[in-house]
Amino acid sequence: MLRTHTCGELKKEDVGTYVTLCGWVQSRRDHGGLIFIDLRDRYGTTQVVFNPEKQKRSFDIADTARSEYVAQVEGTVLGRPDEMVNPNLTTGAIEVEGQAITVLNESQTPPFEIESDQEAERAINEERRLTYRYLDLRRPRVKRNIVVRHEMVRFIRNFLSDRKFLEVETPLLTKSTPEGARDYLVPARQHPGTFYSLPQSPQQYKQLLMVGGIDRYFQIAKCLRDEDSRGDRQAEFTQLDLEMSFVERDDVLDLVEEMMITLIEHLNERGYIKKRILQKPIPRLAYDDVMLRYGIDKPDLRFGLEISDITEMVNGCGFAVFADAVKKGGVVRALNARGAGDVLSRSHIDELTELAKKHRAKGLAYIKVKDGGELDSPIVKFLGDELSGAIVKKLGAHAGDIIFFGADHHLIAEEALAYVRLDLGRRLNMIDPEVIALSFTIDFPLFEPEMVDGHYAPMHHMFTMPRKEDISLLDTDPLKVKSWQYDLVINGNETAGGSIRIHVPDIQQKIFDLIGFSEEDEKNFAHMLEAFRYGAPPHGGMAPGIDRILMLLLDEPNIREVMAFPKTGDGSDLVIGAPAFVDPKQLKELGIQSLTPNP
Ligand code: AMO
Ligand code: AMP
Repeated sequence: MLRTHTCGELKKEDVGTYVTLCGWVQSRRDHGGLIFIDLRDRYGTTQVVFNPEKQKRSFDIADTARSEYVAQVEGTVLGRPDEMVNPNLTTGAIEVEGQAITVLNESQTPPFEIESDQEAERAINEERRLTYRYLDLRRPRVKRNIVVRHEMVRFIRNFLSDRKFLEVETPLLTKSTPEGARDYLVPARQHPGTFYSLPQSPQQYKQLLMVGGIDRYFQIAKCLRDEDSRGDRQAEFTQLDLEMSFVERDDVLDLVEEMMITLIEHLNERGYIKKRILQKPIPRLAYDDVMLRYGIDKPDLRFGLEISDITEMVNGCGFAVFADAVKKGGVVRALNARGAGDVLSRSHIDELTELAKKHRAKGLAYIKVKDGGELDSPIVKFLGDELSGAIVKKLGAHAGDIIFFGADHHLIAEEALAYVRLDLGRRLNMIDPEVIALSFTIDFPLFEPEMVDGHYAPMHHMFTMPRKEDISLLDTDPLKVKSWQYDLVINGNETAGGSIRIHVPDIQQKIFDLIGFSEEDEKNFAHMLEAFRYGAPPHGGMAPGIDRILMLLLDEPNIREVMAFPKTGDGSDLVIGAPAFVDPKQLKELGIQSLTPNP
């Protein structure tokens, strides 16, 4: 046995026990003729003391140990005198008297300090951390994230297994999927000229499993989308993919709701996270409603700052920007930033205006309510005192508040105010970091409001079922059709998407027609229509993004922090050195000629 205990478990009760520990040398200190080594493993650190008067040979070996050497230490557990107890360390009540030490492996000087405080950590270049990820993994932050990730996945597996779900693996070498990102392609040696696609999700397979009677399926599934990475996005990521037969929307939402709440409670109880769920049960909010109140389909509910519609009020008013917007069929929306008057300077307002413009708005009109109720605003002189007063009243604004306005096509006004609202929430310090706000957005339109190449574009994907009462609208006014799509939103982030699926071939065919599928496209999905002709059950499902949810639960600013081996923004794996040029022999075997020759 190379070790009897881990470096994180020895307590006062173990005093007197003879133990063997293995780990990495965190630090070696020479104090008054004694050598102190902090030995670290996954579980913690234990202080070991070497005394030359007692064990000269061990002392000499300990003296040669350097940072990140791997060592095995034997010795007796001693209690620390009261004044030496370290309450910040789980093993802080004891130390081990080092009676023997073996260096199991030496280490070069690591490129960064392994255990470091947050300040020092921020100074480490991220590229360096990713290049030496195996060393980064020894550090507390990434290690914690890996542990919590395991705990989350284990919880999910148990939760779903207890509810009769079967975990089924689906192929990675497959054909194009409908999520709409770019596919990763893999040349097929046995069929020259052809390619597999790596799955953007197991969407089709899980639906085919339902046709196969599997009834309740889940998978911790790798998804691959050839996109640039961003803060909350990786080309290669993991979904909890699930699908159920004989269910309606609320059955799926009930399940996901119970899973999410019990998961968060479980992680809280274990001390892995500290989050207070804002609202239980999880609110299910209609798309039209959230678009109006928050301007976006993934509202951050951790703070109020709701948007109001004042289109009717300003119809025909004296401020041309508003009146023209209404005349053109647009909207005028407003939000009251409570207390912002004391916080936002002129230049802050300019920054917010730039932000609105970045989101296509032409400007960001405002009215500031001053002490005594006087209004300070470039637009009051056009609106007139009466209308201005009525708007202030409708928005419930008082001294110290600022009302911001968006006047435009509803899509633009919504988007601009949504981002202004989010920015204000942060600037006005309205977010309690311990609060976690979950919501479902439901009743999505089936199609995007803006057509693509003269065709309707599915808002979720083309297998999403239109609402029953709206099916006739497919022939008359497709943009009005609502669907059985739903998203799970956490703190303003889309963290899961799903829908009840089409299981009737005729409706599926109709959707293919509306989205302008060519014969070629249709051939690519003919197997789905074919399968639906053999008794497909009604079914639906959802796919929470494991990485994204973890990132939010752990307050990590970037999705990379919750992945063991993430890729950089340009899709590189810096540890392994992927992607890489390959031996021309391999290309030849695949019948492929590269336009970019090997360097
Ligand atoms: P969708 O494409 O909405 O749905 O994805 C579902 C969830 O997966 C996560 N996600 C990502 N996470 C990290 N990086 C990415 N690039 C990335 N893309 C998506 C998000 C998202 O909410 N097959 C459907 C699901 C279904 O209908 O059941 C699908 O993939 O958390
Ligand atoms: P202007 O008439 O362009 O000087 O604009 C007067 C005020 O209205 C400024 O504060 C602009 O930022 C704002 N504004 C202009 N266009 C819009 C718009 N479409 N929506 C909201 N505010 C606007």
